[in-house]
Amino acid sequence: MTPHTAVGHQPDQRTLVSVMVDARRRLLAAGVEAADREARWLIWHALGLTGSSPLVDSARPLDRYELAKVDAYVARRALREPLQYILGTQEFCGLEFDVNPAVLIPRPETELLVQEVIRRLPRGGCPTLVDVGTGSGCVAVTLARALPSARIYATDLSVQALETAKRNALRHGVDSAICWLEGDLLASLAGGACDVAVTAIVANPPYIRESEWSGLQPEVSGYEPRMALVAGATGTELHERLLNEAASFLAPGGLLAMELGQGQSADLRAKIETMPVYASVEILPDEAGIDRIVIVERVR
Ligand SMILES: C[S@@+](CC[C@H](N)C(=O)[O-])C[C@H]1O[C@@H](n2cnc3c(N)ncnc32)[C@H](O)[C@@H]1O
Repeated sequence: MTPHTAVGHQPDQRTLVSVMVDARRRLLAAGVEAADREARWLIWHALGLTGSSPLVDSARPLDRYELAKVDAYVARRALREPLQYILGTQEFCGLEFDVNPAVLIPRPETELLVQEVIRRLPRGGCPTLVDVGTGSGCVAVTLARALPSARIYATDLSVQALETAKRNALRHGVDSAICWLEGDLLASLAGGACDVAVTAIVANPPYIRESEWSGLQPEVSGYEPRMALVAGATGTELHERLLNEAASFLAPGGLLAMELGQGQSADLRAKIETMPVYASVEILPDEAGIDRIVIVERVR
């Protein structure tokens, strides 16, 4: 005797739970560590659900369009495309930023850079700030949200990155507070684009050594923009150039704050100590105890 099947629910139809199990298995086989959590996020994204969506019935069958989407997202992640590029978003300092392969995915370490700069700025007044290598715009936009009276310049060599950053600024209602400039480090500020002395220059420059690139996680070396990550043979090339170039833009007492890579603080400190234009140097560790931020003050 043939068993009865409920109308509209085929015996081979795949339910949310079976799709979840399959996605998790594929991600684990591809070497994705947080396979459980990421499978859920990819499926939620494919189904248009959010964290605040009501509980979903795990026996809910998925239609063919939903299955096709889930399959495409899981296949991309199994090729080690970063989850953030698939979801199209990353949180930074409590704000959501659009991300795509033209921009670095904002990292939690960079939140410390932004917080420390905000903490050191004099209260009141209208500071002039520069975000060098703005990428997704996460630093410039966070500064603009936290300091509504600031005048902010954001530079990048990449036109596509600047376009993404502008979209993020619009999304967070601060586009009109930021002046976007395409160019090499601070070059685009010269010649009159910025005619006031700068209160603070903030940068998360590329700081990976050339030799480290091939050993990075596949998510990074296969998908994130190389020009956002690799500096040169030592990794500190852009920090050193910024140290040389920043002094002529900074107001007396102005700050240059930069993120740095593991093992780079001693050489940078030694370099800064040879530069009489900088009065003090502070190096701050991140949560893992790695020296992560360097802050120097221009002599008064
Ligand atoms: C490490 S990413 C930082 C992006 C963003 N500020 C963040 O913290 O997520 C470095 C950024 O600097 C840009 N960049 C690289 N070399 C540059 C240069 N010489 N002048 C200006 N921008 C540069 C890259 O395009 C990239 O957007």
